[in-house]
Amino acid sequence: RLTLKREVGIIGAVSFIAGSMIGSGIFISPQYLLSTIGSPGASLIIWACGGVIAMLGGLCYAELGTLIPESGGDYIYILKTAGKVVAFLFLFSFIIVMRPASATGIALSFAEYVVAPFYGGCTPPQLVVKCVAAAGIMVLAVVNCLSIRLATAIQVVSTVVKVLALAMITLGGIVMLFQGNTQNFDNSFEGTNVGVNSIGIAFYQSLWSYDGWNTLNYLTEEVKHPEVNLPRAIVIAISLVTGLYLLVNVSYLTVMTPKELMSSSAVAVTWNKVLGGWGWIMSVAAALSAFGSLNGTFFSGGRVCFVAAREGHMPDILAMAHIHRLTPSPALIFTTAVSLVVLIPGDFQSIVNFFVPIIIPILVLIAAVFLVLAPIIDNPQIEYLYVTLFIFSGVIIYIPFIHYKLWPGLLTKLTVFLQLFLEVAPAEKNL
Ligand code: ARG
Repeated sequence: RLTLKREVGIIGAVSFIAGSMIGSGIFISPQYLLSTIGSPGASLIIWACGGVIAMLGGLCYAELGTLIPESGGDYIYILKTAGKVVAFLFLFSFIIVMRPASATGIALSFAEYVVAPFYGGCTPPQLVVKCVAAAGIMVLAVVNCLSIRLATAIQVVSTVVKVLALAMITLGGIVMLFQGNTQNFDNSFEGTNVGVNSIGIAFYQSLWSYDGWNTLNYLTEEVKHPEVNLPRAIVIAISLVTGLYLLVNVSYLTVMTPKELMSSSAVAVTWNKVLGGWGWIMSVAAALSAFGSLNGTFFSGGRVCFVAAREGHMPDILAMAHIHRLTPSPALIFTTAVSLVVLIPGDFQSIVNFFVPIIIPILVLIAAVFLVLAPIIDNPQIEYLYVTLFIFSGVIIYIPFIHYKLWPGLLTKLTVFLQLFLEVAPAEKNL
């Protein structure tokens, strides 16, 4: 019988969460957040709140992941609690917009770091950046189709690298803090922008950096002893990341004045000031960090397609696994294709700000409702209407194809063809 294997132990599990969370955000967002909210004190509070929200969400997911042993994260939980139609609507936006958008966002920031040294201070051409981003996505697609173990190893190594990089930044800052460089924290709330819109946008920047806290729940069926390792990994990873993010921000603000911080395009690179000739290490670490986060995003996103196809919400071929390698290659190839399409028009900042987090219980729900409604009420934009219409347009696909199963015969032929071509067969649940 064909199933995906349980290959992910506790180290892999922590790496999947922490390594997906630490990606582009912490290297790029601190200065956007600071300029949006206006003061160092308020910015630290927003970073801390982001961590608390992630932890609350994480605790809910630890519970959900132990109760519902199937892979598929949000999708499978919505399916089991709210039913098929809602799950399909979620799936529809997840696969077409949310997942490719986050993959594209991280891929673009990876590419920015990779090409920056070749353009010495000038803005690199968009086309070059996008090609490098596409190459990054395709390399990970190949790796993930070849071997789950290799993909997990990449996740672990890149997580270690970025934790070390953030620890190094922290250390540099702490040394300077103890040398008495505390002037940037005097009157640290002066200039705070209290507008709903600034708070909302600042939150988006911090939540983007914390996004990925639910990654492990997408692959529950591949985790060893999930009932123990899943909750443990969630708590360890989210605390680790929150601690590092706060320390790194304190460190940025110790080394640079708020003005300097706001004017730097990528903070980690501006770190040169401290590391001198070793500054390039930070660019390499930032590139690797984004690469690892992309790997986690890609790995977990593929599982949603895979699980959804198993439930009959996507074409059958996507629920199959390679007969020897036991990787869900059709779902991964599909995920790659959608990400590459979204990459063509995508740009990083707008991706981050339109990315709406879906989180469950009460506190988290209130925060989520606030974050979604506040910017809309404060500054209504037609795009928000488009997004809403888009989410509900999933019904148009659901009724004929999923509810009445009007699959055209063509799809069956295509399934058989792809099955032979990709050497894949239907995979069973691994419970
Ligand atoms: N937090 C990541 C970053 O700062 C983005 C993670 C998106 N991936 C995901 N699996 N949701 O770049």
